[in-house]
This record gives sequence, C-alpha cells and structure tokens, in this order.
Amino acid sequence: MTNQSARTPWWRDAVIYQIYPRSFADADGDGEGDLRGITDRLPYVKDLGVDAIWITPWYPSPMVDGGYDVSDYRDIHPSFGSLADATALIEAAHGHGLRIIIDLVANHTSDQHPWFRAALAAGRDSPERRRYVFRDGGGPDGSIPPNNWRSAFGEAAWTRVLEADGTPGQWYLHTFAPEQPDLNWENDEVRSEFDAILRFWLDRGVDGFRVDAVPAMAKRAGLPDADYDDNSLFAAAEWTDNPHWDVDEVHDILRGWRRLIEEYGAERMFVAEAVVNGPGRLARYVRPDELHTAFNFEYVHARWDAGQLLRIIDGTLAALGPIGAPPTWSLSSHDETRHLTRFGRPQAIGGHDPEGAATDLVLGARRARAALLLTLALPGGAYLYQGEELGLPEVEDLPVEVLQDPVFLRSRGERRGRDGCRVPLPWEGGAPPYGFSAAGTTTWLPQPVDWAALTVAAQERDPRSMLRFYREAIALRRKLDDLRGGDLTWLPSPDGALAFRRGQELVCVVNLGDEWIGIEGDVVLCSVRLDDARRLPPDATVWLHSP
Ligand code: BGC
Repeated sequence: MTNQSARTPWWRDAVIYQIYPRSFADADGDGEGDLRGITDRLPYVKDLGVDAIWITPWYPSPMVDGGYDVSDYRDIHPSFGSLADATALIEAAHGHGLRIIIDLVANHTSDQHPWFRAALAAGRDSPERRRYVFRDGGGPDGSIPPNNWRSAFGEAAWTRVLEADGTPGQWYLHTFAPEQPDLNWENDEVRSEFDAILRFWLDRGVDGFRVDAVPAMAKRAGLPDADYDDNSLFAAAEWTDNPHWDVDEVHDILRGWRRLIEEYGAERMFVAEAVVNGPGRLARYVRPDELHTAFNFEYVHARWDAGQLLRIIDGTLAALGPIGAPPTWSLSSHDETRHLTRFGRPQAIGGHDPEGAATDLVLGARRARAALLLTLALPGGAYLYQGEELGLPEVEDLPVEVLQDPVFLRSRGERRGRDGCRVPLPWEGGAPPYGFSAAGTTTWLPQPVDWAALTVAAQERDPRSMLRFYREAIALRRKLDDLRGGDLTWLPSPDGALAFRRGQELVCVVNLGDEWIGIEGDVVLCSVRLDDARRLPPDATVWLHSP
C-alpha cells in the first residue's frame, strides 16, 4: 500500500485502473479473460503506477449484460475462475501495493438468480415476489403495463410473466434488460442480503465497491407514470423529477452502507456510478454519511472544448467542495466509445454510433495525450480504463454476428452498442490473439489485425509510445506535491485554452484551440515534443514549473 498520512485516505487522490476481466488477459486459453490472467499481469499494472484496480463484475452470470446480470453474489463466474482465484488475486494485488475495488450490482439481479426463479414460482403477493417489483397490469385482462416507464436499453421497462398455471400474469420491472429484474429496495430481506454480501467481500479483503446504477435503486411510491421528454430515451429530460431515477429515498440505502463499511475503517470505500442531472445532484451521493466518491459523467462525456470543460471542472469543484468529497475524473470506461476515437471526430462526438463523422485517429491520439495531462492535473481521483494507456481506438467494424451488447441487441441494431470498447487487450506479437490468449486461440471478440504496433511489448520498446507517456505522467503526478492537494486556481488564458495553478508552483495549460499559444515557465512534462519551450501548439497540454 502507498503510505498515506492518517488524514488523507488513499481514495481521495488515487489513480485507479479499471479492468474488464473478460478482455484483460486469458490464462486458461479459452479465449476469455480470467482472474489468473489478471494476477499474472499485476506487475504490468503496478508498473503503470496506479494505486488501485477496479474489476467489473466477476460473479456467476448468464452474461446477458457483460456480467451486470448477477446470478450469485458470493462466487466467481466459472469462466473467470474460482473463489480461490479471487482470494489469490486480492492477496497478490495487496502484495504489489495495489488496492482492489469490485463491482456491486445492487439495483437488479439476473433473471437466473435463485431469488427471481423463486419469485416466478411463488406467484402474486408472495414474500418471494416482494423482493422484486411485481405489479398487476391494467385493462380488462391485465395486458397493459403498470406504467409508462422505459428501460435504459430503449424498450418498455416491464415484462409480463406466465403464472405457474400458464396464464399471463403479473409484470415485473427491469430498468435495464428483461434479464435484469429490479430488486425492491423497500424490502428488508433485500437490504439485509446486500449487507451480508458487502461483508462477505469486505471480510475477504476487498478495499471498496463501485456501485452500479445507484440512482435507479429507489422508485417513487405508487410507481406513477414518468413525464418523459420524447427526446430522452431513458429518463425525464430534467432528471430531477423522474419517478424511477435519482429518487430521494435512495440516500437511505447509501447511509446504511456507509455505516456498515465504516466498521471496517476509513480505508475502505464506495465509488458511485450515478449518472444524474449535474454536479448539484451528484453531490448528494457523496455527502459525508453516504458514498465516498462518484464518477464524473459530465467530464467523461465532454467534448474537446475549452469552455465546456471549464464549466464542468468549475461546476464539479463548486458542488463537491462544500460537501468535502473529492472529485474524480475519467475519460473512458467499458460503457463509452473510447476517447481516442471520440476526440478524433470533429466535435468529439460520443456514443457508440458514429454519426458518419470521419475519425482522425492521429488527432485523437494527440488529444488523448493532452487530455491525460489535463485529467491527472485536476484535484481528486482519476480512473483509467484498460487499454487507454495503449492508445487503443474504438473497434467500430466488429462483425455484427459477434456483437453481444444488449444495447445493440435490444435496439434492433439501431445502436451499435459497447462491444467496440471491450475488445481483448494486445500484449505481444504481431497478430491476434497478441498474447491475450495462447497462440491460435480465438478470442471472444475478434481483435483488429493491425494492432501489432499497439501491443504492450511494442510500446515498451518505444520511448515515445502512449504507454511510456502514461507511465511517466502517472509517476510524476505521484511525485509532485502540488498535485496532491484539493486546490485549483484558474489563470488567464487565450480563447480556446485552459490554464490553472495547482499548489504553489505547478501550472497546467491546455490548448484546445487552433492557434499556437505562448507559455511561460519551465516545462515539467508536455503531451507533445516542444521545439520552442515558449509556445504550445494546438491539441496539447503542458505542466509548467512556474512559482
Ligand atoms: C454498467 C453497464 C450496465 C448497466 C446495467 C451500468 O452501470 O456500467 O455496463 O449495462 O449498469 O447494470
């Protein structure tokens, strides 16, 4: 563990590396990543210089939604390994001085979870059904869904079941896919089960939990219709009056969890996935008696634009500062088009469905380097998604037949989905599987044939590679005291640029404009090679020593 003074828990300014286990490294040669693959590669993660790893769901699951449909919260998906492998991974991570965060999917289970199977069998008004959100339908034959709620994947959020006698019966709620029935968090059995699940993993040494879809967990009493703005696929446009998202009662659950985790000391933590309407709503999730930190989706989704980024950074700091919670910053995840591709599009268009915009990957890589130095210069924590340190682009031409994301499958192909950012990592060699699996193995998603230059081995040998740049930047961030506090002071900057001071002597300048700009100070690190240390070219960031 890195030595943390007693007053600053590690999670306040940690750099955390997100691992999507199915695509990180495959030790048993079945073409899918596994926990032993992660354990074997921990030296690589350690060499990156990060403080912790976040592993997305590793539990048994039908994998309808990449593991976010959990059928047993106290075991490991057989494709990933065993509980013993998980224990070995936790111990090995700690041995490398890395903390380990796992994913807690508490809003819903898989429809194959024993609880849901029991709910189907037990029939209406049963204690088993009360663990989920079952309701009778409307109309003379109950064939109208209980309300107008929509799922995150674009369809109705209700599915009707057949009762044990084969007749059409009640409907159950699923905020996401039908294979992900929502739990009823007003139910005491649900609350005590998840307290037990938290303890199960805390007792096994995990250092924290990334909590999935937090704002979904409470629903407004009576389940009234939502007032959707027709353009919003999922939630009421203003998002503060949505009966199934960001409802105040969710905070009762979080306060209970905070009390529980504090029994394990100040070094265990929660990070919330809370996509809500602005930093003011987000701040509610990280109050001192709730979760410790939260992802910053406004920053994740920001375009490469100085004005927008300034507003987002400023707004985040203004909202979280009074709460005392550290902000976090990230550019990519398993849910987002990889930012190297996004930033290679004229307006950094996000989403998984390129709107025909041509992608300039050279520009994208240049901006990705600049964005990393911006991200690591900001106060608080930073999350890196596996493969961004290799400069991986989104794989946008996966054959349709290999796509598995419910976003694709449930939108009848209108939305391409997230598989393109989940392609197995390239480690070495000149052709697939690039050392991800044993030679000759077919990986669960095909890797591009032109990734030889992107492998870890190739980039280890190249002093100017993205990998070497990430290592240098993260190492410097750890060394520079000016980057460890919570302060940020904006400085005057030309149009299209951002400039701010951290601590006493460090200044970060980001040029997002089209013109070169003047800079002053001694260059500490720059995202591009500078021929003239007094001028910063477009799409570049520099850290300056400037007392
Ligand atoms: C996860 C997604 C998942 C959804 C439903 C999100 O938090 O990051 O990958 O599809 O929750 O569990």
